[in-house]
Amino acid sequence: MTVDSGQPKNNLYFPDDFLFGTATAAYQTEGAVSEDGRGISIWDTFCLKPGKTYRGDNGDIACDSYHRIDEDLDLLNNLNLNAYRFSLAWPRILPNGTGSINQKGIDHYNRLIDGLLERGIAPAATIYHWDLPQALEDKGGWLNRDTAQYLADYAAICADVFGDRVDRFVTINEPQIVAKLGYRVGIHAPGVADPIKGGIATHHVMLAHGLATQAIKASKNGSVPVGITVDLTDVVSLDPKSDEEGIQIDREVNGLYLEPVLLGKYPEINQIEMLPPDHVILGNDMEITSTEIDFIGINYYQPHIIRPLGNREIRFDEYEYYGHPTIVGVKPPEMPLTDMGWLVDAGGLERVLKKVDSMTKKPIYITENGCAVSDYVDPTGAIHDNERISYLQDHLVACWRSINQGINLKGYYHWSLLDNFEWAAGYSKRFGIVYVDFLTQKRIPKDSALFYSEVAKSKMITVNPPK
Ligand code: BGC
Repeated sequence: MTVDSGQPKNNLYFPDDFLFGTATAAYQTEGAVSEDGRGISIWDTFCLKPGKTYRGDNGDIACDSYHRIDEDLDLLNNLNLNAYRFSLAWPRILPNGTGSINQKGIDHYNRLIDGLLERGIAPAATIYHWDLPQALEDKGGWLNRDTAQYLADYAAICADVFGDRVDRFVTINEPQIVAKLGYRVGIHAPGVADPIKGGIATHHVMLAHGLATQAIKASKNGSVPVGITVDLTDVVSLDPKSDEEGIQIDREVNGLYLEPVLLGKYPEINQIEMLPPDHVILGNDMEITSTEIDFIGINYYQPHIIRPLGNREIRFDEYEYYGHPTIVGVKPPEMPLTDMGWLVDAGGLERVLKKVDSMTKKPIYITENGCAVSDYVDPTGAIHDNERISYLQDHLVACWRSINQGINLKGYYHWSLLDNFEWAAGYSKRFGIVYVDFLTQKRIPKDSALFYSEVAKSKMITVNPPK
């Protein structure tokens, strides 16, 4: 723990109705990819391509959560968590993306949702966490405008069958990652690396969010809260000479996905190919993307720090910043890095919350926040993930401070409950508060799970008072 037992302590209390949860996603945890009528997703296909994922890892088995619902539900319950965010696998519910419904897929999520409710855990269901049915990719995927409507039709089914019991629906997880990593850079499925296509996919994903929101509201469970999850970062310019670039980068990585939802427009971006091309934005599209939501979900992992490059070589603590040749990204050596090489800065979370609060007064949930640690089981069978405890502690304090500054933050979901399939990084990175032995599927709560469980139980976090 980061708390020094020799120091006086401060107990920070969270509101009684604050949600302490964890988050997971279907393809990263479920496994059972060929069972009970599930269709193929773009990630099944992508993982088969040589060199796309670490050691060719895939989600065929993952954490085997599909077969271990009760065990995992009991785990959540024993950890005193009162909320759980999971995703519905589109190819499990509609194996071909459209058309006939696979009842076994519905039954699976009914078991999960009912099991959560029996244990007093509020279910938050993400409708799309990146596992597009391959049948829709074969029709053009997110480059095809029709995919937005297909997602809305699928969302309507989810709302009809699960909307009477879920606490909330998240339409889409991280539109930026879908468009940027899937279509602009190509390191995620479907692996397209084309800036123009990245812009097209961006618009279709934002449109899908708006249409899905409308479809859920028009469903027979239309009062269930609906929102979107955007991944946001805090852009920090270390030198006034890079401030202008900082503003641009903020628009590219944050505004591009927030503004269509909250303001009904795309931001002004100098790098024109980051923006959806005009010809794909039709009629009242921007009214659709900004359909009123009931809450906003934020995934926050790390800040982006920049400074001018000037007329010199890139230094050891710097990296080239995509599309911005006059500046560099910086990883200051004095700042901790996670096992992903991501910077740790809880202050960034506070600033991101402030920014969102200045744009909307809707309830905010941190739908993901967490860190990869190179965890291992020690000879006594324990996992002492002190880095994760300190990450959790600092980010929870940031949440508490934000609430106390009047920000409408209602809950925090740690990423993740379990170590799982970390997309292109396969099983090489561990994000769970619970360790998974992927050979035996044994789950072992790490020290961080015990720490988080105490926080969730007491709704309180202890810190040293500022000196
Ligand atoms: C995603 C998760 C992912 C996590 C860590 C988020 O971008 O929603 O699926 O595992 O970050 O990389």
